[in-house]
Order: sequence, then structure tokens, then C-alpha cells
Amino acid sequence: MKIVIGVTGASGTIYLQRLLDQIDFTAHEVHLVMSEHAREVAAQETMAFRIPARVLQHSEDDLNVPFVSGSAFFHAMVIVPCSMSTLGRIATGAGESALFRAADVFLKERRRLVLVPRETPWSLIHARNVVTLLEAGAIVLPAIPSFYSNPKSVSDVVDTVVWRILDHIGLPHARAFRWQEEQRRPPMTA
Ligand SMILES: Cc1cc2nc3c(=O)[nH]c(=O)nc-3n(C[C@H](O)[C@H](O)[C@H](O)COP(=O)(O)O)c2cc1C
Repeated sequence: MKIVIGVTGASGTIYLQRLLDQIDFTAHEVHLVMSEHAREVAAQETMAFRIPARVLQHSEDDLNVPFVSGSAFFHAMVIVPCSMSTLGRIATGAGESALFRAADVFLKERRRLVLVPRETPWSLIHARNVVTLLEAGAIVLPAIPSFYSNPKSVSDVVDTVVWRILDHIGLPHARAFRWQEEQRRPPMTA
């Protein structure tokens, strides 16, 4: 599959890291666009942030990338984490950066666009922007972890969100915890 991953300046670089850690890059073509603010927040949050060599990285200012045209076929786009600023700008139809234009294209082409905001509490403006995006066909998947899998570490907690992202971009993870399926799962080997 061909996937676009956008990264913006909301807290939660670890969600991106765990997502990158769980994609098979030999099987999928992954393009990454990070905003300037995303780099700042990532530097603040994660000491050893790793982008796999196979990931194709692009500048947010570069509109000469394939996924800004509807004629180039991509399967899904996810923005993780997604700042409320980026979410709001996508809701207006802004297309002045590679990220905004790509999101606009995914919406107009009715392709899968998953936004993973991390903000609390929300203002009415945030909520209205989310409604606009839902009406336009986006999937809004807030970075809200679950705990019914009894996570033992921060990574485990983060994965409860990342596995939902993987489901929604069409790359379900074999080890994802699924409610009421755990009893049938074979024990994990090293
Ligand atoms: C340390 C730090 C943490 C931030 N956390 C969030 C956040 O969790 N959610 C959010 O919507 N914005 C957050 N912001 C604000 C965004 O980075 C800011 O709105 C920025 O303009 C977003 O730009 P971008 O969407 O182009 O990346 C944070 C900023 C900093 C410096």
C-alpha cells in the first residue's frame, strides 16, 4: 500500500514512533511530511527518535510530491499527532503546504484521511472544525488510549491508539489487542 504520514506540532511524538516501529516497510511505500513545529516538539519529547531509512521524507513546503495530486493513487493518509492548528486549517480547505494540500486531495478523492488530534480540553472552535472534517469524510481518531488490555508500559498504552490507527489506514497489526479475542491468541514467543 502507499501511505502518507503527516506529523504536526502536537504533543505525542511517541505515537508516531510506535506507528513507524510497526509498519513493514518492505511491503508498503510510506511518505513522511513533518511540519517545522513537529520537529520542535519531537526534539523536546523524544531523545532517540528514529525514522526508518525506507521512509521517503518530504519538506512541508514541497508541493512537487506525488500525493498532492488526485491522479497519483495513494491508499491512506494519517496525521499523527495532529495539532488543532493543522486540523483547523484542513477544515478551511487550506492547501498551501504539502500537508494541507495532501489532506485536501484525500478528502476530495474520498480517500482515507485519519487525523489523530491531541488536545484537551476542546474549545467550541475545535469541536466545530472536527464536525466539518467528519462531514467531509475524515476519520478523527483522537489520541485517547484505552486500558482494558492492561497495558504494562508507556509503549503498551501508546499502542492502544496506534493499533486503532493501523486498523483505520488498512494495515491491521497481527498483535493488536482485540476485545474478547485474547483468550484465543497463542502465547507470544520472544
Ligand atoms: C511543547 C509543545 C507542545 C504542544 N502541544 C500541542 C498539543 O498537544 N496539541 C496542539 O494542538 N498543539 C500543541 N502545541 C502547539 C502547536 O505546536 C502550534 O499550534 C503550532 O503552530 C502547530 O503547527 P503545525 O500544525 O504546523 O505543526 C504545542 C506546542 C509546543 C511548543
